[in-house]
Amino acid sequence: MEKVYLGTNTKMYKGLADTVSYVEELCRLTADLPREKLELFVIPSFIALDAARKSADQKLLRLGGQNMGWAEEGPYTGEISPRMLLECGATIAELGHSERRHVLGETDEMVNRKVLCAVEHGLTALLCIGETAEEKEKGLADEVLQMQLKRGLYQLPPPTGEQLWVAYEPVWAIGEQGVPATKEYAEERHRTIRRTLVQLFGEERGAQIPLLYGGSVNPENAVGLIQMEHIDGLFIGRSAWDAPRFSQLIRSVLDVCFPKETML
Ligand code: 13P
Repeated sequence: MEKVYLGTNTKMYKGLADTVSYVEELCRLTADLPREKLELFVIPSFIALDAARKSADQKLLRLGGQNMGWAEEGPYTGEISPRMLLECGATIAELGHSERRHVLGETDEMVNRKVLCAVEHGLTALLCIGETAEEKEKGLADEVLQMQLKRGLYQLPPPTGEQLWVAYEPVWAIGEQGVPATKEYAEERHRTIRRTLVQLFGEERGAQIPLLYGGSVNPENAVGLIQMEHIDGLFIGRSAWDAPRFSQLIRSVLDVCFPKETML
């Protein structure tokens, strides 16, 4: 593993002032950590992006949008275009989060249009996929993941690891009521995801795409998850929203991935 991907989506929680103080503190607390080994990112509310860009050192922290419209501009009231995201300092577009799919009705086809548009505009598309509890129960998890990948990435030319990241976030694992996936279960699903990406994009490109796990990641399970062969990063909600707590989690992950002698 060359570097780990660690980031958070602050959902509809932190506003403008909270985001600014959060990213300032996170940058300060993690400034000493080597960025060639750590891709750190924060995905705040749209309204806080520009201010976050001004308060965070871009060399320490990347920013993203929690959603994106599928056109450069147009009659899409309430949507944010890739150009607008870039203008506010975002370099990542988080697409197809389970809350958008299952609470707000987003389909694979909508997500696909967004992925194509994000990549075309030079953003990193962070595609989120994951099965529901019912699908897991019925033994359909791998089929669901394959379907979400094949539909969500339809007609995307083989991407580089900068153009596409995939986050596996089982719906049943996310949020207050969520139960984190075991590291073994997550690893199995990540294997399926990797296999599908290789099928879609070939050995070389398919193997380059970073795979992140998300869903009730916490300081207790983060280290076990990141040590799994096919888990390249963690996408975290609640456990990352306090900067000192997140910084501790980041340090413990880096410590196991890159034991001290290699960090010097
Ligand atoms: P939690 O870590 O709070 O379960 O949220 C995960 C998530 O939705 C990240 O996008």
